[in-house]
Amino acid sequence: MKPIKIAIDGPAGAGKSTVAKRLAKELGYRYIDTGAMYRALTFKALKKKYNINDEESLKELLKKTNIEIRRNGCCENQIYLDNKNVTYEIRQPEVSNHVSIVAKSKQVRDYMLDLQRQMASQGGVVMDGRDIGSVVLPNAEVKFFLTASLEARAKRRQQELEKKGYYSDLETIAEEIALRDKIDQEREYSPLIQCPDAIYIDTSNYTIDEVVEILKKEIEKKLAEN
Ligand code: CDP
Ligand code: CDP
Repeated sequence: MKPIKIAIDGPAGAGKSTVAKRLAKELGYRYIDTGAMYRALTFKALKKKYNINDEESLKELLKKTNIEIRRNGCCENQIYLDNKNVTYEIRQPEVSNHVSIVAKSKQVRDYMLDLQRQMASQGGVVMDGRDIGSVVLPNAEVKFFLTASLEARAKRRQQELEKKGYYSDLETIAEEIALRDKIDQEREYSPLIQCPDAIYIDTSNYTIDEVVEILKKEIEKKLAEN
């Protein structure tokens, strides 16, 4: 089978990166976590005290920043910021709570778009994010829109945070996720949308294995149609 491009979009905690990684592994494709790139830039902005609401400040930041995704095997993404591995630091709640502000900026998105398209230019790829099917890879052979109820997503995020030693109540986590979704959906440039040609899957009541199986079947179906 000719290698294809698979785009996975959806709100926070829908299970995108977990299933994208699994899918890439099973297909022998490259996995690209675009959210990690926005997180890396936000991590630096907060650490170096750039004003994330100011375009001039973001321009300076972009000029002085180098973001790379290095592969560990096929599917583990290691995120390098100015040559330093920041894969774990970028998951901090502080970064999660500011990343959508940084991701609103047109110049930030243009910078990421170039990098993301370069990374996806060779071979089979599974890429996840918010604007993959709509903007980054509009010609992707298969597009998915994964979602889940806010409650299910908040519970998943809470469990994930607890494993990393961060404790927060469910209501606060749900509020933070809902606010991030709102900013991502309402921004002017490449907002989170469900593309008309994306396959919609509500993962609220499915395990990761079940979602991966559903995606695999949909990919086979789509390829058989073409
Ligand atoms: O994994 P989680 O759902 O927490 O988010 P993520 O995929 O790491 O993305 C973090 C943030 O980056 C999102 O909330 C968006 O603001 C931004 N993002 C984006 O604007 N476009 C993308 N393609 C990917 C992420
Ligand atoms: O990338 P995104 O923010 O969409 O979600 P994720 O980081 O892949 O998944 C968030 C959490 O939900 C992870 O801890 C997954 O293991 C978990 N998850 C789940 O429990 N059931 C699913 N069907 C999908 C993800």
